[in-house]
Amino acid sequence: MVRSVRRHPGLFVVAALALVGLVISAAAPPPGDDKLTLHDAMDGMKDGLKTIGSALQGEGTEDEVLEGCQRMQTYMLAAKVLEPTNLDEVEEAKRPAHIAAFRADMARAMQKVLEIEIASLEGRKDDALAIVRGDLFSMRDAAHDKYQPADEKKERGEQGGGGGRRRY
Ligand code: HEM
Repeated sequence: MVRSVRRHPGLFVVAALALVGLVISAAAPPPGDDKLTLHDAMDGMKDGLKTIGSALQGEGTEDEVLEGCQRMQTYMLAAKVLEPTNLDEVEEAKRPAHIAAFRADMARAMQKVLEIEIASLEGRKDDALAIVRGDLFSMRDAAHDKYQPADEKKERGEQGGGGGRRRY
């Protein structure tokens, strides 16, 4: 292989480009991209929440909390214009109201992340952590009960126990 690459340097370029392509296609599209799914947005929110949680619990800096808040809010902004994935389970006549409720709940959760950011910027780390552990976790769990498809909720209940609460 090494010898054939030495003989045909073009091969190296092709292999490198293939690798880059693989990495790019594996990454979720950024917020604002038409291809971003609710699943991608939730993954981004989860990453943001992890950053916030570990920064608030440990010796994390205000900048780290800010970075996590920014990431969460950016993905929430993208999620807010998408639709819940359990629409098929909702009577057709009630779907517009279900979509509107989903967007309002996402906006409310985003409001909480703004409150977390403000508390951290004002040096009130304990308040910020209390909002994460209280209101934000409750909103997340209630939203998942309301908008996740039944088979995903079942899977979550079996994995997590404890009334379906998740740790992210
Ligand atoms: C606030 C913190 C939240 C976090 C960290 C979070 C995280 C997640 C994660 C990790 C998943 C699983 C992704 C997957 O495998 O599909 C998920 C699914 C989901 N979440 Fe959230 N979530 C949050 C709040 C919300 C809110 C406020 C709503 C709605 C207003 C919501 C609606 C959903 C829905 C509908 C799914 C199912 C997506 C699918 O079927 O692909 N989530 N969430």
